[in-house]
Amino acid sequence: MNFQWYPGHMTKAKRQMQEDMKLIDLVIELVDARIPLSSRNPDIDDLGKNKYRLILMNKSDLADRKQTEAWSSYFRSRGFFVVCLDARSKNGMKNVTDVIMEACKEKMERDRKRGIKNRPVRAMVVGIPNVGKSTFINSYAGKACAKTGNKPGVTKGKQWIRLNKNVELLDTPGILWPKFEDQMVGLRLALIGSIKDEILNTDELAIELIHILTGMYPGVLKDRYGVDEEQKDTDILCEIAEKRNCLSKGNELDYSKAATLLIDEFRSGKLGKITLEIVK
Ligand code: G4P
Repeated sequence: MNFQWYPGHMTKAKRQMQEDMKLIDLVIELVDARIPLSSRNPDIDDLGKNKYRLILMNKSDLADRKQTEAWSSYFRSRGFFVVCLDARSKNGMKNVTDVIMEACKEKMERDRKRGIKNRPVRAMVVGIPNVGKSTFINSYAGKACAKTGNKPGVTKGKQWIRLNKNVELLDTPGILWPKFEDQMVGLRLALIGSIKDEILNTDELAIELIHILTGMYPGVLKDRYGVDEEQKDTDILCEIAEKRNCLSKGNELDYSKAATLLIDEFRSGKLGKITLEIVK
């Protein structure tokens, strides 16, 4: 399956990101806990070098808890601070401030020793589209905190949200571009709904999902749809269409309807908590 992307967006986003990086101390990067690596753009490691780094494993309400723990250890072992989060229901949000403070402890201590007072740590939220950046900013900082307004000089044109007396957050998230070169990455992004469905072949996507699920989570499709998992992936889709009575106008089995149903149910968590990528 081929996925499209638009180079114009990439160039612009990257330039903007480079500018914003000059203003901040801490990068708060959101990833989707169901595909923690495929929902990252590793270029952020270069763009954010010399910055403190926090990874928020968002949508962890939809991900396999064991895998989320394994991925948290993976990122921690690479020097990131990590918080698992469900930004929509605000689960895990309480820990974020503490971890931000912990991540920037060194800088705050250094400032204190130099006699620099009232210089808050500055942070920005980054991530590929649809990982929950806006949801996070709104639920974390939206109501509770006052916007600080533009300040002369370095922050011109930028709006900062004061989180507490030590931390300020840039109110607009940085949009990273997904990495499409690897077809498996593209496939995983499509499955979680990060690529516009109009450019996807839903039937093909559903077959791929069936293939992944029967391999990684045997029993899930049997439990949800009562299908026999010991048959070809395409036959499993046919059986889902039968079991769920997916019919076209002429009362024929409608496989595309079944494909859409399966993908929707996966995305909304009805198939259970599933992570599509495991730590190697
Ligand atoms: P973005 O800024 O990174 O592009 O993402 P955004 O906040 O717009 O979130 C994308 C979708 O993900 C939204 O759903 C949002 O509600 C959902 N979302 C964000 N965080 C979480 C989370 O922790 N768990 C779950 N399950 N979902 C989350 P939507 O369908 O586009 O909108 P809506 O259903 O909220 O109206």
